[in-house]
Amino acid sequence: MPELRNPPGTFDVLPSESGPWQEMLSTFASTAGAAGYELIVTPTFEDVGVFTRIGESTDVVRKEMYDFVDKGGRHVALRPEVTASVVRAFIQHRPVTPWKAWYAGSNFRFERPQAGRFREFHQVGIEAFGSSDPDLDVEVVTLGWDFFARLGIKGVDLLVNSLGDAACRPAYRQKLLDYLMARRGDLCEEHRGRVEENPLRVLDCKREACRAQTAGAPLQVDNLCDSCAAHFERVTAGLSALSVPYRVEAHLVRGLDYYTRTTFEYAGTMLESSQNALGGGGRYDGLVQAMGGPPTPAVGFAIGVERTLLALGATGTSPRPPARLHAFVVDFAGGDAARDITRELRQAGLRVDRAFDDRSPKAQFKAADRSGARFALVVGPDEAAASQVAIKDLSGGEQHPVGRGDLLETLRAMLGAGSEASLPGRSHPGYNRTP
Ligand code: HAM
Repeated sequence: MPELRNPPGTFDVLPSESGPWQEMLSTFASTAGAAGYELIVTPTFEDVGVFTRIGESTDVVRKEMYDFVDKGGRHVALRPEVTASVVRAFIQHRPVTPWKAWYAGSNFRFERPQAGRFREFHQVGIEAFGSSDPDLDVEVVTLGWDFFARLGIKGVDLLVNSLGDAACRPAYRQKLLDYLMARRGDLCEEHRGRVEENPLRVLDCKREACRAQTAGAPLQVDNLCDSCAAHFERVTAGLSALSVPYRVEAHLVRGLDYYTRTTFEYAGTMLESSQNALGGGGRYDGLVQAMGGPPTPAVGFAIGVERTLLALGATGTSPRPPARLHAFVVDFAGGDAARDITRELRQAGLRVDRAFDDRSPKAQFKAADRSGARFALVVGPDEAAASQVAIKDLSGGEQHPVGRGDLLETLRAMLGAGSEASLPGRSHPGYNRTP
């Protein structure tokens, strides 16, 4: 039988490697939670219609969606992003606004796998519904910025732009299209054929042919209506007031079609330029209505988990690895003590593990060492007969016998202030390997 392996564009994060992943999620949860965002969980697959509304001219929907007809005859899709699902949930459940949600989960896009680009990847993100106040844009952009700072990631560039709204975008779009049509023959092959479908996307094209032509193109930031211009001014003023460094990047066009007004991206200077977006987002004031809900302004972002961890690795900082075990029970007197002590100490809040299968004392001590625990709690036939446990410091030292009833208290005293000491990092997870 051929060896079973994970599919191309996916990876495993093994237990020994998952500490930074876990730390990152909890940092995100606490950053979002501290600002009044609450966790939302939505299905990983939805009716395909939920996603076709996010942009039928985008690669994400046209080329990369994992959609299929299920055994019940429903046309469904694995989610390529979470925003559309959150909007669907908002419309379905009609919560009171302002409504602020955060999420973490996997997404699926049939892309060509390469470093930092996967077919199943993970995002953390926030979405806020019900306010068109530019200060909410500032809150959202700043939360992402602060999240990277809390992780200790250095070298994040914040790029912001405004894409205007239904009042000013159509006229700008026409102006851009006229400009590009006059140069159509010189655009890259893809955009020569698709310029009319979505001229804005040409601005974002990384190919030299397009870049040469778009250098002097009209820009949306110079063609905003008064209210969009005032909105953008308040956003940039807010970022400046909060000392969040940003750069207006007038060519920034995001890969999804639902954005209005503010759009932004966190670019990692340490990552290769085609995959350097650590995260991004913006306003999507028209999406709720486009998906059948009441007119509701909204803004949010999503951050790529794998890319953020790659950035962490590249900048030499790494989130704190998970706390080591407090104790490992070595029981070669039948196993009753291991069964009872692990339960008792875990219920008291300590991190404790043990060996199974009645292994030899030598094998159990080896397992205790490998576990990284601070103490071994040893119960041999002598200790069992005397109702005692011998506490052994695994970094060297004597065994201290204590009465079974005094174990918890003695252990707590011995753990003292150093109990949160961490294990050295040992992480080379799958998302870190080039496919
Ligand atoms: P997005 O720019 O498509 O936006 O994705 C956000 C982030 O997800 C990217 O910046 C990148 O870090 C990560 N990402 C995307 N595709 C892949 C991939 N194939 N492999 C690894 N990482 C990837 C959205 O998804 C919007 N829903 C963001 C948003 C939320 N806008 C408003 N609210």
